[in-house]
Amino acid sequence: MRIFTTLVAFAVVTFSNVVLGQLRSPSNRPGRFLALPNPQKCANRPKQFFFRGHNYFYSGHVPALANRRVDWLDGRNICREYCMDLVSLETQEENNMIFRLIQQNDVPYIWTSGRLCDFKGCENRPDLEPKNILGWFWSANREKMAPTNQVPNGFSYNPWSRTGHKKQPQPDNAEFEINGTTESCLSVLNNVYNDGIAWHDVACYHEKPVVCEDSEELLNYVAATNPGIRL
Ligand SMILES: *[C@@H]1O[C@H](CO)[C@@H](O)[C@H](O)[C@H]1NC(C)=O
Repeated sequence: MRIFTTLVAFAVVTFSNVVLGQLRSPSNRPGRFLALPNPQKCANRPKQFFFRGHNYFYSGHVPALANRRVDWLDGRNICREYCMDLVSLETQEENNMIFRLIQQNDVPYIWTSGRLCDFKGCENRPDLEPKNILGWFWSANREKMAPTNQVPNGFSYNPWSRTGHKKQPQPDNAEFEINGTTESCLSVLNNVYNDGIAWHDVACYHEKPVVCEDSEELLNYVAATNPGIRL
């Protein structure tokens, strides 16, 4: 009986993790889920720079990750094992900091946590239409982005590029017209279209280095479940 109870408990935990993963994971590929944080890695996470209470790192400057190029979900998962997530660029100061990192280190592009709400759970949401203008959010903290065709609050410029593959302002969902792949993820590109450093919508399967930022949600969770841990 006890074994049965334990098995049921295990099954419930596993199931709820899977459900959590499905809810939070906007991957197109089935059977891929968000990674859980690893307390050891969280305690020893790379802290390359610090801004408004959060630590950050660029994967190209971490020896173990320096040659890794990963798709968007793998990028999130690399960060999440460290109690971090892909970087979210909610303010101009933070955006300028990341643009400077890219410029000073000649980084070709990075993944951010920016995501188009075009997966299960995003249907029947008039507030997210039209998708290309109102459908974008930061998946690390689920914060909605400013309309893509406007200068965001507190910014003096629109960080989305004015141009791209179709010579139109971003997001342009260009790869969809080439072969039906939606550009659902937000990458900062370094002058790929002779447009300086700017935001672009990109198909999520492309492989890029990442910038990770502390996740308060994951740090709080690991702190609460590992008494005495120093994060
Ligand atoms: C779509 O086109 C891009 C760019 O040419 C290519 O890299 C990608 O593999 C194509 N995807 C599919 C599903 O054909």
